[in-house]
Amino acid sequence: MAQHKAIRDYIRTIVDFPHEGILFRDVTTLFADPRGFRMAVDQMLHPYAGLRIDKVVGLEARGFILGGAVAHQLGTGFVPIRKKGKLPGATISQAYTLEYGEAIVELHDDAIQPGETILLVDDLLATGGTAEAGIKLIERLGGQIIGCAFVVDLPDLGGRKRLEAMGMDVHVLCE
Ligand code: PRP
Ligand code: HPA
Repeated sequence: MAQHKAIRDYIRTIVDFPHEGILFRDVTTLFADPRGFRMAVDQMLHPYAGLRIDKVVGLEARGFILGGAVAHQLGTGFVPIRKKGKLPGATISQAYTLEYGEAIVELHDDAIQPGETILLVDDLLATGGTAEAGIKLIERLGGQIIGCAFVVDLPDLGGRKRLEAMGMDVHVLCE
């Protein structure tokens, strides 16, 4: 009988990237596989089928790849949250600490209307700092977050607990 691969089987681990001692979970190998990529997109949106989602918001950079596909599948628009200085229009900003340093993310100030329902998408949840910054930006514009979906959660880093403590519905495909 053919052995069906699970999502985790498509994800490659790179040792010592970007620093010595880090095991980097590399989802490019999942994205490159037609069955793996489709499975990931389908599983990410599965809990939200039948719910009203107005927009999918993706976090730079790998959240764009997943978020675009999820938005297409749901028939919604897609909105990017980008690293500082990349978005051309008027933005709101949020600073955050991540596993390897500090950063600022931005959202166009007219990208979400008050009361719109949002699905937040990224590839991986580590400390949750990036997602928390994204949640704050969406909520500052009055967006109502229906869920936060990730391919991978690294449970030792506490991101899931951090987002759940903010009242978020967190959906992950593997740990
Ligand atoms: C990675 C990952 C998440 C974030 C998770 O992105 O894709 O966005 O880190 O870490 P956290 O939960 O500790 O915040 P990264 O910041 O490396 O940016 P990139 O996708 O632009 O390379
Ligand atoms: N992979 C991808 N992005 C990340 C990781 C990882 O292992 N850790 C923090 N951000």
